[in-house]
Amino acid sequence: MPDAQTLVEALRKVLFPGIERDIVSLGYLKDVREEDGRFVVRLELSTNQQGAGERIEEEAHVALRATGVPYRLDMRVRYLPSGAEEAEAEPERLLDGVPVKIAVASGKGGVGKSTVAANLAIGLARLGVRTGLLDADIYGPSIPMMLGLEGAQPRVADHRMEPVERYGIRSMSIGYLVDRHTPMVWRGPMAGKAIEQLMSDVDWEGTEAIVFDLPPGTGDIHISISQKIRLTGAIIVTTPQEVALIDAGKGVSMFRKVSVPILGLVENMSLFICPHCNGQTEIFGSGGGAREAERLGVPLLGQIPIDPQVVLGGDEGSPILVRNPESPAGQAFLELAARVAGMTGLRPSG
Ligand SMILES: Nc1ncnc2c1ncn2[C@@H]1O[C@H](COP(=O)(O)OP(=O)(O)OP(=O)(O)O)[C@@H](O)[C@H]1O
Ligand SMILES: [Mg+2]
Repeated sequence: MPDAQTLVEALRKVLFPGIERDIVSLGYLKDVREEDGRFVVRLELSTNQQGAGERIEEEAHVALRATGVPYRLDMRVRYLPSGAEEAEAEPERLLDGVPVKIAVASGKGGVGKSTVAANLAIGLARLGVRTGLLDADIYGPSIPMMLGLEGAQPRVADHRMEPVERYGIRSMSIGYLVDRHTPMVWRGPMAGKAIEQLMSDVDWEGTEAIVFDLPPGTGDIHISISQKIRLTGAIIVTTPQEVALIDAGKGVSMFRKVSVPILGLVENMSLFICPHCNGQTEIFGSGGGAREAERLGVPLLGQIPIDPQVVLGGDEGSPILVRNPESPAGQAFLELAARVAGMTGLRPSG
């Protein structure tokens, strides 16, 4: 297949506008297949940046044509709402001043939402985006521990709390406000109120993107956040096992019901890469995330390998993107961040 390879290499020169990453490494190239003496190249992308699809299509044609290999470009672009148009027509909501707001959710508990949320936030910050991380899991906040910020207390200025800064991101959690040993017995309306305060009583000014770490399942908090703010989109985390995949589907349906766009699925703990021999083992089976994403009609945004360092990082307060960004899991998180930045129109502000 030398010709197919030539086409793929040509597409590596096409960059996503604004984020300087090529469309192949961003995962937009879905297929190159020979058909009737030419190659059908299928590109698929979702973004809320109007015009990005057309620009990429044009540049892809230029790059492909230059190879001299006969081809046909099958380009599919899904535009997500940018939020701007609706914002004008609708009443104000909380955090309207923060351009991008991403919820990280899952149906099933313990699949790695908090890990994904923390590393996604740090990854976005590494791309130059001023990023916040809001721990919306008020029943079991884990962001303070993940960032090594247990016992941290937000400063108060002008009757507003300042988010706590570390690893290039600003975070806020109910865990900074209550004793970690105090059991949280929030009831529905109180929980909603607590979340609201983390948004309205905190100085998020200047933040370009906020990542929300949601509690497991599809409960009050999810509804409350979906109603109080205009979410840019939701990311659903799953593991490759059947049980988690079924619950991922429930998560997707819930966000669709409240009209929140689904940015895509992240398959966490997708395979184990042996640190000694680099051999790959699919501990929980293979292809589950990709199949489910296809079935639900949403992109698979990333596959994060299982890595014992991720567990250590979470326990010791240094996320993998801080302790070992070069590791396969670290690289997977960086790629996820780049993809999410491309989808939501985030550009590094320098
Ligand atoms: N890719 C990974 N490799 C190894 N361990 C991981 C990975 N991702 C997450 N973990 C570990 O799995 C456990 C659960 O992760 P995490 O707390 O992020 O899940 P969660 O979905 O937020 O859980 P909950 O539903 O309780 O909020 C943690 O110990 C974490 O370190
Ligand atoms: Mg969690």
